[in-house]
Amino acid sequence: MATPPLIYVLNGPNLNLLGLREPEIYGSDTLDDIAERLEERAGALGVRLEIRQSNHEGHLVDWLHEARLQGAKAVIINAAAFTHTSVALHDAVKAIGLPVIEVHLSNPQAREPFRHHSYIASVARGTIAGLGALGYELALDAAARL
Ligand code: DQA
Repeated sequence: MATPPLIYVLNGPNLNLLGLREPEIYGSDTLDDIAERLEERAGALGVRLEIRQSNHEGHLVDWLHEARLQGAKAVIINAAAFTHTSVALHDAVKAIGLPVIEVHLSNPQAREPFRHHSYIASVARGTIAGLGALGYELALDAAARL
């Protein structure tokens, strides 16, 4: 039987604190809760997931490269604050040539002006924002169909 397609799910800084961190903005689910639901959904969709979180920009760059080397079919990324600062992540997304779906729990467009620009959006296949943890599941459904 063929190995199921692989999808990377990458999470940036402070997302390890989900559940505790400003729950009025980011909700009460922890990253583990989100990961558990994604794994369940992945089983139903017949895909494999590699779910990671780091507070370090270089780790996220390395993992984007790794996704390509491992033959991943797509990447889902919530780059968190690096979304608004990282040319390195922009370049990495562009370099790997995989469909990348940008996810945000909150809607950065409805928040402070410094969150309005995303370095990821212009190189992503699409963006899902403002739908809370559900956004990850919708991104997974989309990634599985790309
Ligand atoms: C975020 C939005 C970013 O502006 C913020 O820095 C985050 C989380 C979100 O998921 O809503 O850390 O990416």
